[in-house]
Amino acid sequence: MKRKLLLPALVGCTAAYAACHSGITVRQYTIKTSRVPKGKALRLAVVSDLHSELSQKRREALAALLQQEHPDLIAMPGDIVDDIRPQYGAADLLQRVQGIAPLYFSLGNHECRSQQLATIPRLLGRYGVHCLCNSWEEVTVAGVPICIGGLNDPEHPSYQFAGGWLHDAQTVFSSLEQSDRLRILLSHRPEKVFAYRAMPFDLVLSGHAHGGQVRIPGLLNGLYAPNQGLLPPYAGGMYRHPTFTHVVSRGVSHYMLLPRVCNRPEVVIITVCRE
Ligand SMILES: [Fe+2]
Repeated sequence: MKRKLLLPALVGCTAAYAACHSGITVRQYTIKTSRVPKGKALRLAVVSDLHSELSQKRREALAALLQQEHPDLIAMPGDIVDDIRPQYGAADLLQRVQGIAPLYFSLGNHECRSQQLATIPRLLGRYGVHCLCNSWEEVTVAGVPICIGGLNDPEHPSYQFAGGWLHDAQTVFSSLEQSDRLRILLSHRPEKVFAYRAMPFDLVLSGHAHGGQVRIPGLLNGLYAPNQGLLPPYAGGMYRHPTFTHVVSRGVSHYMLLPRVCNRPEVVIITVCRE
């Protein structure tokens, strides 16, 4: 009898703990680079894995937090629109945040699964979102000339043959190698580091891993993440590589059935300044 009660009690305690620690937190990183002009700095907000948030209260809190942080640009590297939940949750959040800063988006696996790939860029475009689907834009933000690109998710239906995604990753942005601008890539998948190493970007922004669901700060940075498995090496955080810096957001998602333990949903704020 005692054993029968143990599992429900454990699940209940975990859900209760997760519910008490589900408020959104702000994670700050600083990156120094010679690509930023002297005296200038760029403040980027990263919002990933919204998954068409169902709760209006949580969407309001997220919008208020972004307003308060005064970013120069908001990057959304995928899974903003969910494939199962109604799209309204994404539209409502975008309506609340449009006007805070320019919004840039790239596709995640859930947008790719949605069978709505033709309409999602139109939906996001209504709120002024720049959809970067294997494309890039040159823009100057806060006095910093940047080139911002977005790479499609490997689950995009156009990648029906093996190696299609890697081929695009290696070719679409190759001309940016000559650019003097700060080069930023939005790409949903954190585990594709081997591909980013060969791409001409200074900063890569990803999501998807949801922080590995369970963390023990200082001991365990994530228990499990999709496409990385147990003890994921890129569950969330800032990772320095020889040619680029990789920031993996733990995302803003919140599912009661998939509790996050010691792993609060987060908005990432990155200050990019002159070294
Ligand atoms: Fe994802």
